[in-house]
Amino acid sequence: MTVFLDMSRIDSKALADCGLSHNPFTALVVPRPIGWISTLSTDGIANLAPFSFFNAVSQNPPMVMFCANAMHADGGPKDSLRNVRASGEFVANLATWPLRWHMNVSSASAPRGQDEFELAGLTKASSIKVRAPRVAESPVSLECVVVKIVELPQADGSSLPNTVTFGRVVGVHIDPDLITNGRVDIRRARPIGRLGYLDYAELAEFFQMPRPDWPVQDSARGDHDDA
Ligand SMILES: Cc1cc2nc3c(=O)[nH]c(=O)nc-3n(C[C@H](O)[C@H](O)[C@H](O)COP(=O)(O)O)c2cc1C
Repeated sequence: MTVFLDMSRIDSKALADCGLSHNPFTALVVPRPIGWISTLSTDGIANLAPFSFFNAVSQNPPMVMFCANAMHADGGPKDSLRNVRASGEFVANLATWPLRWHMNVSSASAPRGQDEFELAGLTKASSIKVRAPRVAESPVSLECVVVKIVELPQADGSSLPNTVTFGRVVGVHIDPDLITNGRVDIRRARPIGRLGYLDYAELAEFFQMPRPDWPVQDSARGDHDDA
């Protein structure tokens, strides 16, 4: 038997009835890659912030998305969203274990105009196809041009916006140390992902599994004894 939580009516009683003390949602969709989004304001100030509502959404053309939730402390849109609206560009940098503290510092609710590269002690590297700088210390950066910005419908009674920015990846930077035998060995970058609560995971174990042909062969069903 599972416990069922009606997500349209979450309060402490509903949670307690399921044996929960916190909203479990972000602990259930895991691990989430962290898009470490760099942008440039109309005043030319660089901005950097992590977004775990981030993912690749297509390969051809390559596209990613990130979602800005809620507001900046001053009540307006978060700087990342404000900047992509104005500039039509962003860079998604890879958050890694060696950069975890820098990533976390860059998430501080800093006043507008604060350059989080400076706040976190990071170096700006020039991008090739967009004006927004990338994180020089990050081993992977995706240069992106905004395709569409979508305001998601709000829940009844909620005044908090959720705004998704879709970007087409127009160029990628890869640390050559990650490349072996013509492939990217992303393990070497030690990417981190976001889990629920205050938890993170570092990508550790890898396994390979080819897609099955049709009709599906018995050999594609694996060994169910090793669950
Ligand atoms: C690991 C991590 C993931 C985050 N993911 C998101 C997210 O998906 N959406 C969001 O709005 N804020 C997210 N945040 C919070 C933002 O980084 C934070 O609000 C930041 O100050 C926004 O900066 P900005 O105003 O410069 O855009 C996350 C923070 C951390 C540490």
